[in-house]
Amino acid sequence: MRHEFEDDARRIEAILAPQPPRRSGARTAAMVAIFAVAIAGTISLGASWAGPSRIARGEYLATVSGCGDCHTPGYFFGKPDETKPLSGSEVGFEIPNLGVFHGPNLTPDKETGLGRWSETEIVMALRTGVRPDGRELAPIMPWRNFARFNDEDARAIAAYLKSLKPVSNKVPGPFSDQERPTSFVMKIVSPER
Ligand code: HEC
Repeated sequence: MRHEFEDDARRIEAILAPQPPRRSGARTAAMVAIFAVAIAGTISLGASWAGPSRIARGEYLATVSGCGDCHTPGYFFGKPDETKPLSGSEVGFEIPNLGVFHGPNLTPDKETGLGRWSETEIVMALRTGVRPDGRELAPIMPWRNFARFNDEDARAIAAYLKSLKPVSNKVPGPFSDQERPTSFVMKIVSPER
């Protein structure tokens, strides 16, 4: 019995005894481990880049790239309809010998917008000018410039377009140069005419 008490007493003593200070090597190793975890966390966060900030970046890029000029109704009349951003322009561009092209509806409406396009298809059209049906976009859509968008930025724009309020608006056309456009047209007028 006595022995048992002595053992208990020694165990309690061991618990209460002040801990020897940790060696600084151990502390450094612990700090390195904490840093490694923090950096790994930051990298994985960067890779999946949280939704809202990605969409905000896309909105920023779309705004400074002037997508709204050609894709938001009212813009060319000096009154862009901010309640329906990027839902399609009523003013088309006449490209000599090619036809007339209106900036289409870029909102995620399934019937008249990009609702059925994947983000990858949007990125493809933006950077290579090729639609999912294989047609090359008219050169007034500045895809040759947008080819310079890096993956992350192009995807951020696509994510932003996908986040827009869907608006039902089928823009007219495209019209061949033999057809008569049914809506407003911007055109190059020869001085000889
Ligand atoms: C100078 C005018 C102009 C600007 C600026 C512009 N676009 Fe366009 N975009 C057009 C026109 C016009 C078309 C249609 C061309 C065609 O049908 O051949 C088009 C087509 C598209 C298409 C294909 C849609 C479809 O239904 O075929 C996408 C996607 C697109 N633009 C996205 C953008 C984005 C995103 C921006 C900004 C980063 C932008 N555009 C800036 C004029 C413009």
